[in-house]
Amino acid sequence: MMGSAAGLVEPHGGELVVCSGERPAGLESLETVALTPRELSDLDMLASGALSPLAGFMGSGDYASVVEAMRLASGLPWALPVCLAVPKAPVGDRVALTDEAGAPLAVLDVTEVFPYDAEREALQCFRTTDPEHPGVARLYAQHHLYLAGPVTVFARQEPAFPALAKDPAETRADFAERGWRRVVGFQTRNPIHRAHEFVTKCALELVDGLLLHPLVGETKSDDVPAAVRVACYEVLMAGYYPAERTAISAFPAAMRYAGPREAIWHAICRKNYGCSHFIVGRDHAGVGDYYGTYDAQLIFDDFGPGELGMKPMFFEHAFYCRRCGQMATPKSCPHGGDDHVFLSGTRVRELLTKGEAPPAEFTRAEVADVLISAYR
Ligand code: ADX
Repeated sequence: MMGSAAGLVEPHGGELVVCSGERPAGLESLETVALTPRELSDLDMLASGALSPLAGFMGSGDYASVVEAMRLASGLPWALPVCLAVPKAPVGDRVALTDEAGAPLAVLDVTEVFPYDAEREALQCFRTTDPEHPGVARLYAQHHLYLAGPVTVFARQEPAFPALAKDPAETRADFAERGWRRVVGFQTRNPIHRAHEFVTKCALELVDGLLLHPLVGETKSDDVPAAVRVACYEVLMAGYYPAERTAISAFPAAMRYAGPREAIWHAICRKNYGCSHFIVGRDHAGVGDYYGTYDAQLIFDDFGPGELGMKPMFFEHAFYCRRCGQMATPKSCPHGGDDHVFLSGTRVRELLTKGEAPPAEFTRAEVADVLISAYR
């Protein structure tokens, strides 16, 4: 694993590629393209360097290579397309990219406009062509051409959680200042239960620092809203994590629900934020039963030793075992299901809606309080 000057893992491809710059003259005369929430998240991550080494929305060479081989045309690992869908080719060679209300945020210098096979992309990236899959549904609903080219972002969107908004250069500076070299990143889009706490703390035992990195971009409508989740992380951090070994900031990406491929993509993005390690537990970034419980771990075998330049940390399904009297996984606990505290997401929602806290072995009381008030 290669290290940077501060001893941190190097950004993917060797350096942070930050696509930010000055507001150019002549903006008013440019054709505009309004971005969807997912594209806006991608644009913001291009601006911050979180998608290094990408300098803009992908062209057909990178796109085909990513879809077919999980690598950029250069051979560097990359698991999911970062593309901008448009209904028609622009006339000029530069366009203004706007938010949904039409406010200009960036310019894109057009290198290519190309058609794509949405079914093929779905099959390769989501492992299904089922239009019920939320990622596939989004893909099928989008425009039929991809517009490619480098972007220059001159206006960043207001972050949803200003106190948690940290670009890769900032998390890296923070880690360096704290003297961390080996840092484990934790992706989450759910409230933090004891299982999440267990895996993050097991991981932290083996490295210098932990980055709790909740995703705050677009999620499907029945996921718990980011504001509620963030409140959960904050109460848990305040009471149960060592401040000098733990950092929290927001990951501005939208969820794609691509399971295994998204695990690779999440890991690579976190490497750009300075994480040398990344947690992958059960059904990472999964949805419904489209993916096997550990498919998001097995996919890491598709990359040669050192190819990703960071290390995944795999965890089996964690639970509280009444006989062990502690959190465990099937790897470390010999007891059967009857001894394990297991609640389905549906059961947890039922309890919270009734104003009842799930068992303390499942969710800490402080977190349950936050969730109960949110459900009211
Ligand atoms: S995800 O879509 O971001 O993966 P979630 O927030 O539930 O969803 O999970 C965050 C991380 O914790 C993922 O790596 C996931 O695999 C892991 N995880 C969640 N629940 C468990 C569990 N009970 N045991 C082990 N790992 C878990």
